[in-house]
Amino acid sequence: MTSLGILLSGRGSNFQAIARSIAEGRLAARIAVVISDRKNAAGLDHARQLGLETAYVPAGGRSREEYDQELVRTLREFAVEYVCLAGFMRLLSPVMVRAFPVRIVNIHPSLLPAFPGLDAQRQALEHGVKVSGCTVHFVDEGLDSGPIIRQAAVPVEDGDTEESLSRRILAEEHRIYTEALKAVLSGSWRQDGRRIIG
Ligand code: GRF
Repeated sequence: MTSLGILLSGRGSNFQAIARSIAEGRLAARIAVVISDRKNAAGLDHARQLGLETAYVPAGGRSREEYDQELVRTLREFAVEYVCLAGFMRLLSPVMVRAFPVRIVNIHPSLLPAFPGLDAQRQALEHGVKVSGCTVHFVDEGLDSGPIIRQAAVPVEDGDTEESLSRRILAEEHRIYTEALKAVLSGSWRQDGRRIIG
């Protein structure tokens, strides 16, 4: 069974969706540890309620590289094979990316490469796109720039606010994160340049 490490900073609804998929037998994996940079992250509480191992790794004024070294140590301690970013609000340094090459997966609330970075749903509304969505991708050393594993489109409605659009995108996030992990863990994919096939 593949061991996952979850990294989150907030409410952790994507983490919960993954945990549910595992509990319901839709994803063959185990969550080895849930790590947060925020002590009071709701997702960390939920992980504890589920009886999962958790770790709080505070930033505490050190460099990104030093921080990531501790992340790598913690993930190795729990024998993590794949890392799932689920609302983790820190940019990873090459220290993390090189420790888990093509083994770190992120979910982003836009159709990348449109609207990387923070407040993607607000960016989409402000730009006036008629379709947005979400993307699950491998993490490379750039910002939301790694190879795409799965995407889902969500129409933008005339009356949408940031909240209403985010809500509809989130429902799709929960669905495609599991689908993407299933595809990745099945091993039946290959990479052709930037394209992930399978
Ligand atoms: C999601 O919108 C995700 O796409 C983004 O951060 C948000 C995290 O939400 N990276 P949650 O903590 O999983 O509920």
